[in-house]
Amino acid sequence: MKRIAVITGASSGMGRRFAETANEFGQFDEIWAVARREDKLKELSASAPFPVKPVTMDLSDPASAAKYEALLKKTDVEVGLLVNASGFGKFQAVMDVPAEENLNMIDVTCSRHFRFRLEVGASCSTASSG
Ligand SMILES: NC(=O)c1ccc[n+]([C@@H]2O[C@H](COP(=O)([O-])OP(=O)(O)OC[C@H]3O[C@@H](n4cnc5c(N)ncnc54)[C@H](OP(=O)(O)O)[C@@H]3O)[C@@H](O)[C@H]2O)c1
Repeated sequence: MKRIAVITGASSGMGRRFAETANEFGQFDEIWAVARREDKLKELSASAPFPVKPVTMDLSDPASAAKYEALLKKTDVEVGLLVNASGFGKFQAVMDVPAEENLNMIDVTCSRHFRFRLEVGASCSTASSG
């Protein structure tokens, strides 16, 4: 079984930095880098000094949690580290932002992270580590 780190938001900003330095946080056979922009994830994969698997996923899609869960089960991995750094922020008064956009922000930055956490929690408790 492979020991992996999962980093969401790995195509830029804080997530990208966590992904580039993942070996400082433990020993992993592979880093799963999650975001929408496949080109950025492939670039990361080509430049990192350890194996990086690009996982192209839109977390605003309600089906993404099931896709992630299926990928974890299919690949038989133990998740040793989860960094949820995906998301975006609107720097405006809440009433000036369309409700759908606010709800999407909550989904991408909170609900989907919580779902990822649940899936990883199951993997960690099976392995008694992480
Ligand atoms: N930087 C700060 O000082 C700071 C402070 C407080 C809070 N935050 C919050 O922390 C989070 C990350 O900040 P950052 O500065 O690193 O931002 P960033 O550079 O804009 O990076 C955001 C990451 O989230 C991914 N992402 C956004 N929407 C997504 C979606 N629908 N599905 C999958 N991935 C998605 C982006 O990838 P793709 O576009 O490729 O999908 C990107 O990799 C944000 O929520 C931000 O509001 C940041």
